[in-house]
Parts: sequence; structure tokens; C-alpha cells
Amino acid sequence: MKKVGIIGCGAIGTIISGAIEKGLVKCDELILYDYNMERAEKIQKSLHVPVTVVKNLEEMLRLKPAVIVEAASQQAVRDYIDKILAENIELIVMSVGALLDLKLKSNKIHIPSGAIGGLDAISGAAIAGIDEVILTTRKNPKALDMDNKEEKIAYEGCAEEAVRRFPREMNVAATLALTTQPEKVRVRVISDPKVDKNVHEIKIKWKYGDMQLKFANEPHPENPRTSALAAWSAIKLLKEILEKRT
Ligand SMILES: NC(=O)c1ccc[n+]([C@@H]2O[C@H](COP(=O)([O-])OP(=O)(O)OC[C@H]3O[C@@H](n4cnc5c(N)ncnc54)[C@H](O)[C@@H]3O)[C@@H](O)[C@H]2O)c1
Repeated sequence: MKKVGIIGCGAIGTIISGAIEKGLVKCDELILYDYNMERAEKIQKSLHVPVTVVKNLEEMLRLKPAVIVEAASQQAVRDYIDKILAENIELIVMSVGALLDLKLKSNKIHIPSGAIGGLDAISGAAIAGIDEVILTTRKNPKALDMDNKEEKIAYEGCAEEAVRRFPREMNVAATLALTTQPEKVRVRVISDPKVDKNVHEIKIKWKYGDMQLKFANEPHPENPRTSALAAWSAIKLLKEILEKRT
């Protein structure tokens, strides 16, 4: 029996649950946990697949999900990761920023490409040697809790500090830092009233060439910080993990 647990029933948790409902990911039971229980119950009411809403992580662990998707917050990762790994459960982490500090290694931790892509090429280049990674993220001020009327640099510096200053918005910086090395990644966050998408531009110089990647993602209607692509990258990973299990 394949059970999937989701921690965090906001924008990403809702999209993943919807994919399970549509049969895009095959699972027998969905276990939902959100410390705001109404959010979990709202999803439960909208689905026909078997769903159990639990009150805490311990209850979720007792139901023995094969995979848990963390789609909650960096604090949730810090609070729950050890307990989940102790049960030998596969864990997909969306709040990747938390992993930069935790420095944990486990083959049960899975990091989706999130709101960007090209990590296969970037990780290959990282083995050969990367000189620099420059991430320029451009978001509408409302996605950064700002209200500037003209374009403004909200942050310029290293990936770790970008993640600390924008814990909910700059997971992409953490993903790049974990794929290469944190000290190679320079980040610029631009609050730009002219854009209505979350735009990530990545420029990389490596030993045998350079790369330029650009992602212009529509923000989630209920949570402008989040792009649907992040949820769909977790769906792809979840599908792969479940399909490998007999
Ligand atoms: N990897 C990426 O590229 C990427 C992209 C977008 C978002 N994210 C991250 O994924 C996470 C979820 O994003 P979202 O847009 O769905 O957020 P959201 O705010 O829409 O939903 C988060 C939900 O988690 C719940 N929650 C928060 N902390 C919790 C805890 N400790 N225990 C239980 N429930 C908790 C909240 O009540 C909320 O319902 C965020 O941390 C976000 O920064 C990552």
C-alpha cells in the first residue's frame, strides 16, 4: 500500500493533492498535516481519494507513509526532519533553505528542482569545476512584501544570506548552492513593479563553457511567492519515488 504524507496544505500542498486526485500520481492514501487544520480539511473535502487528516507529525508517522512531502516552512524542516528520517521514510523537501544550515546527508532526502531547472547540467558541471553562479531573481514587490514603485535591488550578496533574508522566497538560491557550492553562488534580488512573473535568471561559468537559464513563472494566485513549477517539480519527484517502489 502506497501512502503519501504532505506536511503543509498551502499553495504547494494543494497542487500536489490535486495531482493525486487526478491520478497523475498513483497512491492509495493521502495523509495531510497542517498546523492550521482547517487547511488540511479544506483539501480533504475537495478530494475523492482516501484522505486522513492528522493533528501532528507523530500521528502521520504512525500511519507509515512511504513518502512525505514537506511543503510547509524552513522551521518545519528543522523540527521534523530527524523524526522522519529515523522512520526510514523518503522525504521531499520544498523548504530547501533549511538544508543549507542543517548540513545533513541522507539518501532519503530528495530535493526537487523547484522553481528552476537545468540542475542535471549544473551538477555535472560542478563536478568538473564551476567558477561562478550568478542568480538574478526579479519579483513583483508584493511577492517580496515590499511596496516600491520603481525597480529596486532588494538584496545583493551570498546565497546563505539571501535565504536568511527571504526564507520563503529564495529557495532557488539554496537549491543552486546545494547543487554547486554555497560560496560559488552570488545572488541579486530585484523588486520590480513592472513584472508580474517570478523570474529567475542563472548565469554560470564553468571549466568547459558557460550556461544561461531563464525561468519566468506565473505566481500562484493565492501565494504570489510561490510558482506552480515548484509544486510540479515535487509531483515529478514523488511520482518517480513511488514508481520505483513495488
Ligand atoms: N524549492 C522551491 O523552489 C520552492 C518554491 C516555492 C516555495 N517553496 C517553499 O515551500 C514551502 C511551502 O510553500 P507554499 O507556497 O505552499 O506555502 P504556503 O504558505 O502557501 O503554505 C504553507 C502551509 O504550511 C503550513 N505550515 C507552516 N509551518 C508548518 C509546520 N511547522 N507544521 C505544519 N504546518 C505548517 C501553513 O499553515 C501553510 O498552510 C515554503 O517554505 C516555501 O518557501 C520552495
